[in-house]
Amino acid sequence: MNTTAMFDIAGKVALITGGGQGIGLATAKELLKNKLKAVAIIDINEVIGQKAVREIQEEFGEGKAIFLNYDVSIRTQFEEAFKATINAFQHLDVVINNAGIVNEEDWERTIDVNLTGTINGTLLALENYLPQSKIGEEAVILNVSSIGAFTFFAATPTYNATKCGIISVTCCLGHPLHYERKKVKVMAVCPGVTETDLFNRKNVKPLNENCDKLGDEFQRTFPHEIQTAEDVARGAVHIIKEGQSGSIWIAENKNPPYEVDYVAMQNIRRYN
Ligand SMILES: NC(=O)c1ccc[n+]([C@@H]2O[C@H](COP(=O)([O-])OP(=O)(O)OC[C@H]3O[C@@H](n4cnc5c(N)ncnc54)[C@H](O)[C@@H]3O)[C@@H](O)[C@H]2O)c1
Repeated sequence: MNTTAMFDIAGKVALITGGGQGIGLATAKELLKNKLKAVAIIDINEVIGQKAVREIQEEFGEGKAIFLNYDVSIRTQFEEAFKATINAFQHLDVVINNAGIVNEEDWERTIDVNLTGTINGTLLALENYLPQSKIGEEAVILNVSSIGAFTFFAATPTYNATKCGIISVTCCLGHPLHYERKKVKVMAVCPGVTETDLFNRKNVKPLNENCDKLGDEFQRTFPHEIQTAEDVARGAVHIIKEGQSGSIWIAENKNPPYEVDYVAMQNIRRYN
């Protein structure tokens, strides 16, 4: 145990990347149900970002959300989002690095958005913004990985690699040595198969036609129950409140999230 008691969401401010729809938007709403003061939605898609803010204002009231049209893969843009959020709401307490894509054809872009974007957000939050801008004793960074970090999907090697990278960054920067330095909990949630736009045929870019077929094969043979973005959002809020820094959680099959071990090498060596 390296962190303090439960994190209190009431009155806090959150920044959520890829918050225009899907898991990000559902998590914004779930945090607001838990008395969050306000949320900054960062998204590369202006249309859905503006719509998300309108939806939030209608449900939770004026002044509860702003939209910032930035690309998380570009560090200078991402930094502007931090500044604009703190400028709008005076403090910042929770950062959720959620933006992600599945593009195996342009795998460099997948690395840029999923992994570089998450590292940008985690480092900016941990080193530059959260320690100075939080109002409570501690702040939280929640990184969105995937069950793909623990399962070998033949059709999406680069996507899975980025999700493994997110776990690794989370374990390193969630280390007690960093927590003691900064009082920021760094954790990750790994959603299972969730009904959003992410895996829609029109959005997924397979490496080639054969790999596309492997995706269908996976869907048929991988045992899973499709959950909603709201299922993941409830799990994310539980983790934000209760999770310890460095902890990794799976949220799948509509179930409450459970913590998993990401095992260090001295514990996994195989003796033949
Ligand atoms: N849906 C699933 O089955 C599933 C499973 C495991 C993990 N995840 C992860 O959950 C996260 C959210 O995905 P989702 O399912 O809600 O998908 P989604 O496509 O509904 O939402 C992703 C959002 O990210 C935004 N985005 C993309 N590139 C961006 C960029 N460069 N900068 C800022 N915003 C950007 C998109 O515009 C979109 O609004 C992703 O990291 C995804 O990998 C999803």
